[in-house]
Amino acid sequence: MASTSSTFRITPSTAPLSAEQRQQQLQSIQFGRVFTDHMAVVSYRNGTWQDPEVKPYGPLSLSPASSVLHYGQAIFEGFKAYRQPDGSISLFRPDSNSERFNRSAARLAMPSIPQELFIGAAEALVAIDQAWVPSGSGESLYLRPFMIATDAFLGVRPSEEYLFLLIASPAGEYFPQGLKPVSVWASKEYVRAAPGGTGEAKCAGNYAASLLAQAEAKEHGCDQVIWLDAIEREVIEEMGGMNLFFVYRDGGAPVVVTPALTGTLLPGITRSTLLNVAGDLGYQAEERRLPLTQVLNDIASGAISEVFACGTAAVITPVGEIKGRGFAQTINNNENGPVAMALRTALLGIQRGTAPDTHGWLHPVALG
Ligand code: PLP
Ligand code: COI
Repeated sequence: MASTSSTFRITPSTAPLSAEQRQQQLQSIQFGRVFTDHMAVVSYRNGTWQDPEVKPYGPLSLSPASSVLHYGQAIFEGFKAYRQPDGSISLFRPDSNSERFNRSAARLAMPSIPQELFIGAAEALVAIDQAWVPSGSGESLYLRPFMIATDAFLGVRPSEEYLFLLIASPAGEYFPQGLKPVSVWASKEYVRAAPGGTGEAKCAGNYAASLLAQAEAKEHGCDQVIWLDAIEREVIEEMGGMNLFFVYRDGGAPVVVTPALTGTLLPGITRSTLLNVAGDLGYQAEERRLPLTQVLNDIASGAISEVFACGTAAVITPVGEIKGRGFAQTINNNENGPVAMALRTALLGIQRGTAPDTHGWLHPVALG
């Protein structure tokens, strides 16, 4: 299919928010609550993607028998558009999200979508809703592509019809308390993913299955869950919507270590980005197996100086405390640590165009 946003038929909203109303919405941004004036929609029928369209944001009309509502064939992605210093707008690594989306689609027996359509939808939506891309420090436009199964059929088999949609929401800090360390609960009762399951896929069901453990974390006064492996309930995997890094101080330069990808973790794009940025900053970066007991000992001995979480929505968020049944371990006095903050500054610098994009991660959007 020929490129890109020009493939999309544009139906502008007849009632977009006024500049003043929009400004009001952008004043105090809460993650994921407010949406821009438009959305992109592409339908899959008869074995092909068709009718790419950008139209006013609004409710969908679905048959109550739609298979997504019963058997959960639903996947999503998250990436961001950043305002650049010259007023232009760039997407950050949309190709990586497109590739992961198609890997998720394959795991859920859904059709893949051409990268031209996936990125073209983002380009077309960002172009029409460009006034919604905020320019404040730490701010961006969060893009949420997703695909749902729409066959009106109660048999259990892959749907033959799908909808791909892209919606957008201005984003500031992900956690309501702003950039402060979060506390995490290592859950031994519940697991997020088992070998052979869907842990590597960004499918809706993974998040539904995480909510009870998240409630358990809250009951123990924690902000988030740390997931352990399903078999031993001992090896650290990731958090509910973020990957994890542990900073080892080996006398000299910091070594940043993240759990190896075993097939049960989501291969985060921020994770992969930070493995590169760590190298740029002169840190050593490693992916390996990290048992919880070892990590708790290493925090207690001072071998681990910082722990932080990373993801598109949350960028980098320090972890100040790890708790579980029978233990509670504070990290770095529950303060933001220097390595996490240096990586955060370097990452945001590249994303916001104030530092050179030496890895070619920015994808400029033609604003028309
Ligand atoms: N792990 C999970 C379960 C997630 O939902 C996310 C968010 O997308 C991540 C990790 C981080 O991935 P990324 O950096 O690609 O946003
Ligand atoms: C993201 O960081 O994009 C996520 O998907 C995390 C969460 C909002 C599900």
